[in-house]
Amino acid sequence: MNRTTPVIPQEDIQRQREYCAEIRAYNSQLAGAPTAYVDTYGCQQNEADSELIRGMLTEMGYEMTDTDKDADVIVINTCAIREHAEQRVLGNVGALVHGKRRKPSQIICLCGCMAQEAHVAEKLRKSYRHVDLVFGPHALWKFPELLRRVYLRRGRVFETENSDGAIAEGLPVRRSGKVKAWVSIMYGCNNFCTYCIVPYVRGRERSREPEVIVEEIRQLVAEGYKDITLLGQNVNSYGKDLGEGLEFPDLLERAAAIPGEFLLRFMTSHPKDATEKLFDVMARCEKVAPVIHLPFQSGNTRVLQAMNRRYTREQYLDKVRVLRERIPDVVLTSDVIVGFPGETTQEFEDTLSLIEEVRFDALFTFLYSPRKGTPAAEMPDPMPKEEKSANFNRLVETQNLISLEKHQAYIGTVQRCLVDGESEDPRNNLNARTPGGRLVHLKGDPALVGRFVDVKIVDCSTWALFGELL
Ligand code: SAH
Ligand code: SF4
Ligand code: F3S
Repeated sequence: MNRTTPVIPQEDIQRQREYCAEIRAYNSQLAGAPTAYVDTYGCQQNEADSELIRGMLTEMGYEMTDTDKDADVIVINTCAIREHAEQRVLGNVGALVHGKRRKPSQIICLCGCMAQEAHVAEKLRKSYRHVDLVFGPHALWKFPELLRRVYLRRGRVFETENSDGAIAEGLPVRRSGKVKAWVSIMYGCNNFCTYCIVPYVRGRERSREPEVIVEEIRQLVAEGYKDITLLGQNVNSYGKDLGEGLEFPDLLERAAAIPGEFLLRFMTSHPKDATEKLFDVMARCEKVAPVIHLPFQSGNTRVLQAMNRRYTREQYLDKVRVLRERIPDVVLTSDVIVGFPGETTQEFEDTLSLIEEVRFDALFTFLYSPRKGTPAAEMPDPMPKEEKSANFNRLVETQNLISLEKHQAYIGTVQRCLVDGESEDPRNNLNARTPGGRLVHLKGDPALVGRFVDVKIVDCSTWALFGELL
């Protein structure tokens, strides 16, 4: 086996840290620390990237704020997965022009998946002239250098060149929480589902070294983190590029062997690569949470084929059967797309019947959104919008009933929950998660945040459980 993972040389990372020091020295001469605001759209991968951006900004001497108002640097980390997400970003970025008029020294940066789309970069160049710096996910590691270039040049900087991507280790990170943490184990995607933009903007699959990942988790556990999610677009492809024969279940097992009280989760698993070996490790390792997100996208084999998902309806159902044999009380969640080009209402009925058969604990439902440059965007799409919406609504109603019934089954049980934060609701001031990740509202001492407690479930809604501390 050959190793194909490209890695950014440590000297190059070191140079970024020198740029950080340079900007920090400049910032320290100002009256009062300058401020920075980072706004994040999209998936957990983007959340994790924003923690790196905040880490770099902190090292450059910026203080983080939670509003764009009067911030010295604004970073918008964007998502390109659906048209709606892009419109929201463009609307919000457009509105920043007023703040910049009040404070012309303000630097506005746009990064993330949208920045990697050529037509978006072009639009920003032409019509969003108040945006100073645009860089894609591939250039994230050199953010300090790019920001420095903006300062020196007093002009706009675009770093959006396409790339297969590489791995950057050793960047500073500033995590948002104290209880839950993200750990990226790999980047990119090789699957090219025909509707999806991710492989075009995030590059090819590449895995971090297992030793580096395990060490990062060990460190997080030592710092008191209790809930650690391993991230990748398809974690089941982990390690293929490392050429060591190490697979995702092996990594999971190594991570679960780290001493301490914590839970491990992972996202996302492509069903075609979710193996019995994975299910066995989940069943065997107490520290691996009994939950899996296994997107099925469609319940119809012809549509699955047109989506290039590389499994059939029957194969998906079979995986679920084996999974539940190994872990009977597993929490199973999924993603589904309604209105894929050419999907008929008859084919959609197969999606409905699949969710009735599987009975997912929760489902993320999406209306198909054409993405420029993907094969599906070129496919004939004759179904009227109204019919798609009607199908979509039927799906949501069916799932809501299932989610409610699933939650009702928790009533009267005792769950070992991790209290992961405070809520705004004074009647139930704490939020917690069951081992399977279901949200529980309860009342208790805020000092319990970060602790595992026994909770009796007393009530529920479609979206959450309500519990009492034992
Ligand atoms: N890598 C993950 C998914 C990342 S995107 C996986 O393969 O499971 C999250 C979800 O967004 C997808 O599972 C899919 O349901 C949805 N999605 C992706 N592209 C979409 C599009 N063009 N239109 C509508 N939904 C889409
Ligand atoms: Fe997109 Fe498919 Fe890759 Fe998931 S596996 S990121 S849906 S191309
Ligand atoms: Fe969006 Fe990029 Fe994630 S497109 S869903 S932020 S990988």
